[in-house]
Amino acid sequence: MDLMIFWAVLLGIISRPTFGKELGNLPHIIMIIGDDMGSNDVSYRGSNQVTTPNIDALGYNGVILDKHYTQAICTPSRAALLTGKYPIRTGMQGLPLNSGEDRHLPEGIQTLPQLLKDLGYSTHMVGKWHLGAARRNDTPTGKGFDTHFGYWSGYVGYFDYMIQTQVESINQVYTGFDLKEKFRDAWSEQGKYATDLFTEKALEVIENQDKNTPMFLAVTHLAVHTGKDNLVEVKDEKVMNDSFGYIQDLTRRKYVDALLQLDQSVGLIVEKLQEQNMLENSVVIFMSDNGAQLVGDYRNGGSNYPLRGSKSSLHDGGIRNAAVLYSPLLKQKGYVYEEILHITDWLPTLYSLAGGDLSSLKGMDGFDQWQSISENKPSKRDEILANINEITGYSGIIGYKGRYKIINGSISSKHDIFGPELEDNIDYDIPAILNSPVNKAIRQLNASQNYLNTESIQNLRKISSKLNDDNKCKNSKNRKNPEICTSFCLFDLMEDPCETENLIEDETKQVIISGLKARLAEFWKQLVPQTNKPVDVNSNPAKYNGTWCTWLDDELCVKTPIKSVS
Ligand SMILES: *[C@@H]1O[C@H](CO)[C@@H](O)[C@H](O)[C@H]1NC(C)=O
Ligand SMILES: *[C@@H]1O[C@H](CO)[C@@H](O)[C@H](O)[C@H]1NC(C)=O
Ligand SMILES: *[C@@H]1O[C@H](CO)[C@@H](O)[C@H](O)[C@H]1NC(C)=O
Ligand SMILES: *[C@@H]1O[C@H](CO)[C@@H](O)[C@H](O)[C@H]1NC(C)=O
Repeated sequence: MDLMIFWAVLLGIISRPTFGKELGNLPHIIMIIGDDMGSNDVSYRGSNQVTTPNIDALGYNGVILDKHYTQAICTPSRAALLTGKYPIRTGMQGLPLNSGEDRHLPEGIQTLPQLLKDLGYSTHMVGKWHLGAARRNDTPTGKGFDTHFGYWSGYVGYFDYMIQTQVESINQVYTGFDLKEKFRDAWSEQGKYATDLFTEKALEVIENQDKNTPMFLAVTHLAVHTGKDNLVEVKDEKVMNDSFGYIQDLTRRKYVDALLQLDQSVGLIVEKLQEQNMLENSVVIFMSDNGAQLVGDYRNGGSNYPLRGSKSSLHDGGIRNAAVLYSPLLKQKGYVYEEILHITDWLPTLYSLAGGDLSSLKGMDGFDQWQSISENKPSKRDEILANINEITGYSGIIGYKGRYKIINGSISSKHDIFGPELEDNIDYDIPAILNSPVNKAIRQLNASQNYLNTESIQNLRKISSKLNDDNKCKNSKNRKNPEICTSFCLFDLMEDPCETENLIEDETKQVIISGLKARLAEFWKQLVPQTNKPVDVNSNPAKYNGTWCTWLDDELCVKTPIKSVS
């Protein structure tokens, strides 16, 4: 039997939908997502350049998801998260969406917010969408969110909320404002720092939540993507220099400053959940959508070290990303989950936790992993399709429970490299973790639970920073950049997690290689062509009072006053 069908059948049988659960008892679900944040930029992974106290405290009190895989870029990752399907099934496997591009999730597709809404949740998104905005129906509130405050594009300026796009067909650049409260242009918020603004809006959602209704809140931050002029923007350069002057590379210094604002946002959100007596019945997830961008225009100063590859690469630096989960509902807490998970797993996992009937989900690639995570049981997943780009042929798959990966080709020789090693500038700030808003909020939950202490933090960090210590990885004599894959490459991720040695010619691995190639060929047969389009010349913000509007619902858009057009 096909493995996929096998699991679907099995899950259908063993899942016990909790029909009749009181609405008020369903857990609140809070997802906080960082953008282009590197896997080495959370200090629990071992970096001694900066401490991220809130994110670390969330993981140490809950579960650190050590092998959480995403897609390699924004649009595909967000599509996978919201649909539970690999992007090859929704046409989203290609390049990220441009502002002014008419592309969207398929009509009628089940999305995580819509499914939760059908179970009685109120559903809210604050921040980035990046899954289409040609018509109102393509935007967050057309795809299952009750409310959205944020932007529809891939990124915006951190203060001005402007975004440009190149219109190839007419060789022009379109520029427009992109900050919306549902469909209304939020001009009055222009000038506020994005991380502060999105945090403020997230806190409002939590405060205004009816306490008898379960809440799904997705906070999809701009940080730590690049903003205006392709730079990460900071709140206050003077404060940044005072705090992080020890970091020489200015791009990196800005990144670290923006990263700590993001970390503080996590603290404020968890603190607010506790204040509102919601944390005791919440599931809080923090993750990055893909690896840090190491090269080119959008290089943000993030680090995936010692993993190989940038955002866009199918090497682990692009797809094996930081993720942690905290919930009082976990049966086992304070440990590192070391089996593979994929971003598509969240939909069935959370739907099932919310009492949904898994057998009603159609064509899932994700698995319900709640028991795996909550009880440290084996992952339900044997393989992960990293992606297939049917136009370039660039593709990859991980199989054998995460041990082996084949990649066909390369995104570019610049993306498939190792980023620089970070300097060890500071001592790991354990008191900052113990005193973080996240740790304090969790401590207030239940006086009899196991508290974090210096020793438990050190133990957990040792496990979750294995990559940084591992002599297979960091200190490997193969550490100089290995050859770029020109056709198929095979990597043994257990022996060589940093993908330094291509085993494609290894006689003893031929059965594994043909097995993985056969699985990849299966997925090739199932893919729907990518739906990328050129930027539509009719999307020009100059027509819409300087804003990106849903131009295919033109009659609903604010028009530029006549006199300013001429
Ligand atoms: C911060 O430091 C950078 C580089 O050292 C410098 O160029 C910049 O002017 C400084 N900014 C402020 C506000 O001090
Ligand atoms: C491998 O990639 C090449 C392009 O580099 C492509 O032509 C070929 O179809 C791909 N093969 C498979 C089996 O994916
Ligand atoms: C507090 O924790 C204990 C032990 O983990 C548990 O038995 C008890 O139900 C918890 N109480 C509350 C109010 O969550
Ligand atoms: C048009 O844009 C200006 C900013 O350029 C803004 O102040 C004004 O409120 C907008 N008009 C409408 C109707 O949204």
